[in-house]
Amino acid sequence: MSLPAGYSIRRATKSDYDGITSVLKVLTTVGNVKKEDFDSVVEHWDSVKIDVSRHMYNCTVITNEIGEVVATGSLIIERKVIHECGLVGHIEDIAVREDQQGKKLGLFLIQYLYKLAKESGCYKAILDCDEKNVGFYEKCGLQKAGVEMQIRFGR
Ligand code: ACO
Repeated sequence: MSLPAGYSIRRATKSDYDGITSVLKVLTTVGNVKKEDFDSVVEHWDSVKIDVSRHMYNCTVITNEIGEVVATGSLIIERKVIHECGLVGHIEDIAVREDQQGKKLGLFLIQYLYKLAKESGCYKAILDCDEKNVGFYEKCGLQKAGVEMQIRFGR
């Protein structure tokens, strides 16, 4: 499977401020995120590593032929004690720009994050989603496992 001509996929950088903050609005409230706050988040993502070659935070973007961010999603790698100090990948904040949905960009992004998780040594990747997205994630090869629960602290 490949991206449409001219599209590419890569690790997010500070230059993706407009694109990421805009595309994420299809997912949830982004709020007023200042450029300096975004830069500080990207610096944090880049600074936290599970070892010399592997990042803990892997925010990824798909760009179109004119360099606009059209999709974003993250793989966060958790180092655990169980499973012999195994690594688990958490897939988070998947969003495809509204006018780009239905072009298999979401599927491509998820498969890219699986590859990253496998290459990083994760023994599994997991995510939480709304019931309305179960069909999409099943198409991406995931299976329902367990129940999501939450307690909210004001947001
Ligand atoms: N329910 C059932 N099937 C779906 C859905 C859905 N909600 N969305 C897509 N599909 C199917 C498609 O029809 C396609 O099937 P096919 O291969 O048989 O043709 C397959 O899944 C792949 O679809 P894509 O074209 O790759 O999907 P898209 O690029 O539109 O991305 C996504 C799907 C990410 C859900 C997108 O619609 C989106 O950004 N929605 C709003 C934000 C959102 O809900 N994000 C997920 C949050 S959960 C999380 O972040 C862990």
